[in-house]
Amino acid sequence: MDNITTKILKKKFIDFFKSKNHVQIDSASLVPDNDGSVLFTTAGMHPLVPYLLGKDHPQGTRLVDVQKCVRTNDIESVGDFSHLTFFEMLGNWSLGDYFKNEIVGYSYEFLTSPDYLNLPIDRLAVSVFAGNENSPKDEETYNRWKELGIKEENIYYLGKKENGKENNWWELGEVGPCGPDSEMFYITDREPCGPDCNPACDCGRFLEIWNDVFMGFVRKEEGAPIEPLKRKNIDTGMGLERTVCVLNGYKSVYEVDSLKPAIEILEKLSGLRYGLYDDIDKAMRIITDHLRTSTMILGDENPTTPSNIGRGYVLRRLIRRSINFARRLKIDATKLIEVVNFYIDFFKDTYPCLERNQSIIREEFAKEVKKFNNTISQGLKEFEKVTSDMTDVTINGAVAFRLYDTFGFPIELTVELAEEKGLKVNIDEYNQCYKEHQEKSRTSSAGMFKGGLAGTDYGYAKYHTATHLLLAALRKHFGEGVYQRGSNITLERMRFDFSFDRKLTPEEILMIENDVNTYISQAIPVVCEEMSLEEARESGAMGIFDNKYGDRVTVYTIGDVSKEICGGPHAQNTKDLGYFKIIKEESSSSGVRRIKAILTD
Ligand code: ALA
Repeated sequence: MDNITTKILKKKFIDFFKSKNHVQIDSASLVPDNDGSVLFTTAGMHPLVPYLLGKDHPQGTRLVDVQKCVRTNDIESVGDFSHLTFFEMLGNWSLGDYFKNEIVGYSYEFLTSPDYLNLPIDRLAVSVFAGNENSPKDEETYNRWKELGIKEENIYYLGKKENGKENNWWELGEVGPCGPDSEMFYITDREPCGPDCNPACDCGRFLEIWNDVFMGFVRKEEGAPIEPLKRKNIDTGMGLERTVCVLNGYKSVYEVDSLKPAIEILEKLSGLRYGLYDDIDKAMRIITDHLRTSTMILGDENPTTPSNIGRGYVLRRLIRRSINFARRLKIDATKLIEVVNFYIDFFKDTYPCLERNQSIIREEFAKEVKKFNNTISQGLKEFEKVTSDMTDVTINGAVAFRLYDTFGFPIELTVELAEEKGLKVNIDEYNQCYKEHQEKSRTSSAGMFKGGLAGTDYGYAKYHTATHLLLAALRKHFGEGVYQRGSNITLERMRFDFSFDRKLTPEEILMIENDVNTYISQAIPVVCEEMSLEEARESGAMGIFDNKYGDRVTVYTIGDVSKEICGGPHAQNTKDLGYFKIIKEESSSSGVRRIKAILTD
């Protein structure tokens, strides 16, 4: 087979489904607008969730698209042959239109037809759902594949659990539409790893290329049982880069046309060759991946800029990680803009917002490089100072922690600099300091946060403070009968349950949002005091006055807006919170409402 590029595969996929009466829809933004539980769009079906749950889509019941996606949960694995933080997903949907029989037929036709992928039948394996207490063994799909000509020995029932999740069962998160799926694999020349070799093992014999999800169910609440959907849907996903890699027999996704030129630019900038040494290759792959994702986030239709919270923090981390790895390759970080330019150019036809936002992309990237270089050079001075009069060969953990906390030095950078001087770092001690710092920040005001890479903790702290402001605003509007009933904070969003017995109107939601943003704009300091439970009660602090807290408690006071007993940590000043936005208001249980909200820059 001739080399197939990402552009060719995209075109074939879209053309095929258009020939089956599908309408092509545009890729949605990387910033999800209907879901605050995740930072970025993580799959093609993500922007379509409301339609998968029953809403009518304006463009019909048969859709096809190429969706840009960002997933950073596996960021530590990036640098291997296949993990990417940005990827494109080809997908097609039936919204209550066709179901299993047709999609399996379409998939088979697309994979094997000489007009499309032309894969030999013997190279195809498929898996189908083996069944569990929720959903039966999927014999219908098994028989359909068999009828189309897939050999029985290449059809696998899979039900084994991996990481607590059922194989061949697809769901986006804890709640939402879900269902059994059938995955398609390319069989490589690699020998089976044993008698039980199957597509779920990672020996490399089977490489996944596509997934058909029979989305017939919904999970409405975390931990709740699944319920059948009134209208059954089909959701399919084909990872573009990964499939191009498999179809061409490449060793890694970095040989794919949308990534390879970036590796070549890095070879030029560093004067080093790719493909000779593992360390160098890995660094090049990480930079290539992270800069692509950064370009896409900066240039999205809803651009994000680097910051210490939420999406901005992910972006900052991606850029700073690429700078660190560029440093190892002795590449001047300001030159990395050449890679960014390549991506803008390569993707601008598919995603016109990259062209529109090209000056934001370049300026923000250059700004972040400069900022990080400053941090690094201050930290380097400090590093030189502490190491010049050292008598020991090991840098103690407290020093390494100070470099991290005050100068934003990632620990791997300290280790690397130490190695250059023939020194070691006491990592155990460093970890201990880090842990102590986290514990301390839970019980004291957050005066020790200095930005830099300690931003993760400060991200949580800001949401804690936002929770207090939200409760204050709710009580202001709805009276003192409103109490907190629960709260859950992640780096991406807050979830807040409170006692109230009806839905909030859109106007009320706006007023609450406005109040919280007013408190934020008033730049009120957050004051933390330790006192006895009795003193807290007398001071009028809110909280549950039982023995839950022990004798001494911490009380956080935000001007005259809020006074609550709380373990913290909190932001130092409301102005650090940025912009508060309610993204959802819904029922939690009887008499309890739930608000999901995010903070943005
Ligand atoms: N939603 C399915 C996936 O992302 C198709 O694999």
